[in-house]
Amino acid sequence: MQGEDTLLRMHGIAKRYGSVAALQGVDFTLRRGEVMALLGENGAGKSTLVKILAGLERPDAGTIEIGGEIVTLRSPGQSLRAGVAYVTQELSIISSLSIAENICLGGGDDHFVWTQARLAAKVRPFLALVGLGDIDPGLAAGSLSLAQQQLVEIARLLSRDARILILDEPTAALSDAEIEKVKAVVRKLAAEGRSVIYVTHRLGEVFEIGDRVTIFRNGRSFDPAPVKDLDIDELIEHLLGRRLDQMFPPRGAGIGPVAMSVRDVIAPGLAEPVSFDLRRGEILGLAGQLGSGANAIVKAIAGAEPRRGGTISLGGRPLTLHSVRDAIANGIAYCSDDRKRDGIFGVRKVIENLTAPSLTRISTGGLLSGRRENELATQLAGFFEIAVGRLGSQAGKLSGGNQQKVALGKWLGIEPSILLVEEPTRGVDVGARAEIYHHLRTLAERGLGIAFASSDNQEVLGLADTVATFFRGRLVRMAAAETLDPEELLRDVTHPASTEAGGAR
Ligand SMILES: Nc1ncnc2c1ncn2[C@@H]1O[C@H](COP(=O)(O)OP(=O)(O)OP(=O)(O)O)[C@@H](O)[C@H]1O
Ligand SMILES: [Mg+2]
Repeated sequence: MQGEDTLLRMHGIAKRYGSVAALQGVDFTLRRGEVMALLGENGAGKSTLVKILAGLERPDAGTIEIGGEIVTLRSPGQSLRAGVAYVTQELSIISSLSIAENICLGGGDDHFVWTQARLAAKVRPFLALVGLGDIDPGLAAGSLSLAQQQLVEIARLLSRDARILILDEPTAALSDAEIEKVKAVVRKLAAEGRSVIYVTHRLGEVFEIGDRVTIFRNGRSFDPAPVKDLDIDELIEHLLGRRLDQMFPPRGAGIGPVAMSVRDVIAPGLAEPVSFDLRRGEILGLAGQLGSGANAIVKAIAGAEPRRGGTISLGGRPLTLHSVRDAIANGIAYCSDDRKRDGIFGVRKVIENLTAPSLTRISTGGLLSGRRENELATQLAGFFEIAVGRLGSQAGKLSGGNQQKVALGKWLGIEPSILLVEEPTRGVDVGARAEIYHHLRTLAERGLGIAFASSDNQEVLGLADTVATFFRGRLVRMAAAETLDPEELLRDVTHPASTEAGGAR
C-alpha cells in the first residue's frame, strides 16, 4: 500500500528568484495511482515546484527521481519523455491555432504532415473526456470562452499519455458543472494507475479527489496526514499556521432602504428582462454557472456591456448609464472578473493602481498632488490590509490575493454607494479570501449596496444576505441566503426544476 509504490521523489529542492526564496529545501513524494493535492497561500511555492518538475524552471539545488532513477529535467520535452505532463496556471492556448492544433502542439508527433481532419479525429476522444465532445476541433481556440480554453488545456494533458499529470489550479476559472467533469477525469486517471498532482485553492476539492495533501508555507512543504484523517478546520489550520475563526463574517443586521432598482434590463447574455432591488447595507449574491446571466447583468448595470432596455435607478432616480464612466460618475463601482485585463495595471505601481479611478480627487487644476495621492493610497491600502510597504511595488508582482485587494480597494476612492463585483475571490487563497469577505461586509455595514456574481456556491451562501440564482440567461428566483441549503442552490444553478427555465432540462 505504501513505500515501494513511490513513483516520484523530489529531494531538497531549492529555488530563488532574486531575493525571494520561492522554495527552501522541499521534499516531495508521489505514489503510483494517487491524487496528491497541493495547497498553500498565494506565493507559497506550489507553482514553482511543479514548474521544476515540468522542466520549465531549473532548481538551484535538489534531486529528482522518477521510477527509482535520477532524472534531469531541463526542458518541457525532457519532462514529457520522463512521463510528466503539465497544465499551467496561466493559460497557454494559442488563439490563432485550431483547438486540435493546440492539443497536439509540442506532443512530439509529426503532426505537421497531418490534415485538419486527421488531427480532429485524433483529439476528439480527449475533448469528449472533458465534456467538449460537441465542439468542432477545427475552430480557432481563441473563439472559445476562458473556461472552455481551460478544458482544452486539460484535454491536451490527457492526450500526452503521461505517468504523472500536473494540474495547476485547473478549476479556478470553471463553474461547478465543468469542475465536476474535471474531477471525474482526475479520478478516472488515478483509477488507471496514473498519478496526479492537483494544485487548488478550493479546499472542498481536496476531500473529493485527494488521497494525500502536501501543504506549502513560505517555500517549505509538509504532508500533514492522509486526507481521510483530516477535517476542513484542521486542513485550514495546517495551511495558515493558525486557526481561522470564521471564513465568513456574520450577516448584517442593518439592511436599509432600496439603494438601486434594476427594472426590466435587457442585455447581451440575458434571455429575458431582469428586475431586482439592492438595498443599502445588503450583500446580494448573483449565483450562476458560466453563461447563466449572473455576470451579464452585472456587466450591463456597470455599463461594461450595452444595455438594450430597462431602467436602473439610484434612490428612486433613473440614471442614464451607457458606459463604465457613467456608472462611476453615479457612484457605481465595478470590479470585473478579468483582473489581468481590466482590474489591474500589472506594470504600474500599487499606488498608481489604487488611485487611478479617483485622480480628479487628488489633483488640482489638472496637477496631481503627490501628497494627496500618497494619503489616499495609504488609506485605501489600509482598509484592505495591503502592506503599505508594497505601495511602490509593481502591482503585477503581488500575490493573487493582494492583487484582488488592490482591484477592489481602488474603487473605494470614488466613495461609491454601489459596489458591483464579479468573482470576488477567484484564484485567491483561503486566508486572503476570508479577509476580503470581512472587508466587503464592513463596507456593507457602512451603507454600501453590494452585488457580486459568483460561480462558487459556497461563497454565495456564506457571504450574501440575499441570493439571486441565474440559469440560462434568466433570474430563476431570489431568496434569503439563510433559507437556502447547498443542495438546493446547486440544483437551482444547474437544473432548476420548478421554473420555465428548467422546462428545457
Ligand atoms: N518568475 C518569477 N520571478 C520572480 N519571482 C517569482 C517568479 N515566479 C514566482 N516568483 C515568486 O516566488 C514565490 C512563489 O511563487 P509561486 O508562483 O510558486 O506561488 P504559488 O504557491 O503557486 O502561488 P499562487 O497560489 O498565487 O499561484 C512568490 O513569492 C512569487 O512572487
Ligand atoms: Mg501558483
